[in-house]
Amino acid sequence: MRRYRVGILGATGLVGQRLLERLEGHPWFETAALGASERSAGRPYGEAVRWALDGEPPPDPAGLPVHACEPRAFEGCDLVLSGLDAESGRRIEPRFVEAGHAVVSNCSAHRSLPDVPVVVPEVNASHLDLIEAQRRRTGRGFLVTNPNCSVTGLVLALAPLHRAFVARRAVVVTLQALSGAGLEGPRGLEIVDNVIPFIPGEEEKIEAETGKILGTVAGGAVRGARLEISAHCHRVGTIDGHLAALSVELESGPAPAEAAEALRAFRGESEGLGLPSAPERPVVVIEGPDRPQPRRDRLAGGGMSVVVGRIRPCPVLGLRLELLAHNAVRGAAGGTLLNAELLVARGLVGGGRGA
Ligand SMILES: NC(=O)c1ccc[n+]([C@@H]2O[C@H](COP(=O)([O-])OP(=O)(O)OC[C@H]3O[C@@H](n4cnc5c(N)ncnc54)[C@H](OP(=O)(O)O)[C@@H]3O)[C@@H](O)[C@H]2O)c1
Repeated sequence: MRRYRVGILGATGLVGQRLLERLEGHPWFETAALGASERSAGRPYGEAVRWALDGEPPPDPAGLPVHACEPRAFEGCDLVLSGLDAESGRRIEPRFVEAGHAVVSNCSAHRSLPDVPVVVPEVNASHLDLIEAQRRRTGRGFLVTNPNCSVTGLVLALAPLHRAFVARRAVVVTLQALSGAGLEGPRGLEIVDNVIPFIPGEEEKIEAETGKILGTVAGGAVRGARLEISAHCHRVGTIDGHLAALSVELESGPAPAEAAEALRAFRGESEGLGLPSAPERPVVVIEGPDRPQPRRDRLAGGGMSVVVGRIRPCPVLGLRLELLAHNAVRGAAGGTLLNAELLVARGLVGGGRGA
């Protein structure tokens, strides 16, 4: 089987760095081209990047040149993965789609378009059916996104409950790690000994994207799930791992033990496709009155599982729990790669596996 050639937009950012880290030794993909802003373009990656992960940048991509994000520098790539900030993504990603590329993005700029699927493979792989409608607008190329990093964990925990018991209303309070804000996030003096009770645009994204992902596709658009959500978002001083407290009203009002069983049994729509980045269990139910915790639990399933604990009755909405997802892995680079693998498995890029 040949390996698919992957280009990365925003390769020097935190998500770009995670993508390069996870592409090292990937069985299906190889890093072929890197792009970032004019500040970085023209320099070898190893010089241009302000590396913020453990260790050093992987040696092969470290020697690759960084290009400006122009489609002609990415000719020959089977897939383009984007870790661009929203403003650059809004401008740059459509140019790659117009040039015929399959683009898998982290950025929020196009998630609300009716024909752009926002995908968490275990929950809504079937939303890739939107690509056909999107191609009527764009031609050969297309765009698939993963959700906001808080939404990924939230929908993985909500989907099994919604399917088994039908979710109607939810209140979620997030405690979000610093890496979620990218390389230019809050400085030490702003966040040590502090909590910032505001993340621009985050509550709106949670409230809009969750219903889209849990909805169904019909007639080239998504009919969103009828689920009301109220979100309160906070930036805290952890490095990785978004923790969230969720209260949810479920139509059939399960006992906590029944909810835990539905979460444990969840395998999802993409099970059995052999996707290299898929965790064995998308949802891990953890015991113990003080779990999950970011430092102890964020690497469950290699950072790709959401960890749910403290499942208990809620006197207001019926059921409450805590959930944790690694924002930079499951919520960003790992989620993007899983979506890219799903596109390959579904034959939507490069003729499918084995092409
Ligand atoms: N961090 C997370 O946990 C997370 C999770 C989910 C989704 N996301 C989303 O993923 C995206 C990337 O996040 P991040 O945390 O990696 O951000 P970041 O660290 O700020 O990186 C931004 C990247 O975009 C590039 N860029 C900036 N302006 C550009 C321009 N005008 N033209 C071309 N490239 C430009 C930067 O290149 P230079 O280095 O050359 O400036 C850098 O590579 C964002 O849309 C974010 O909302 C992040």
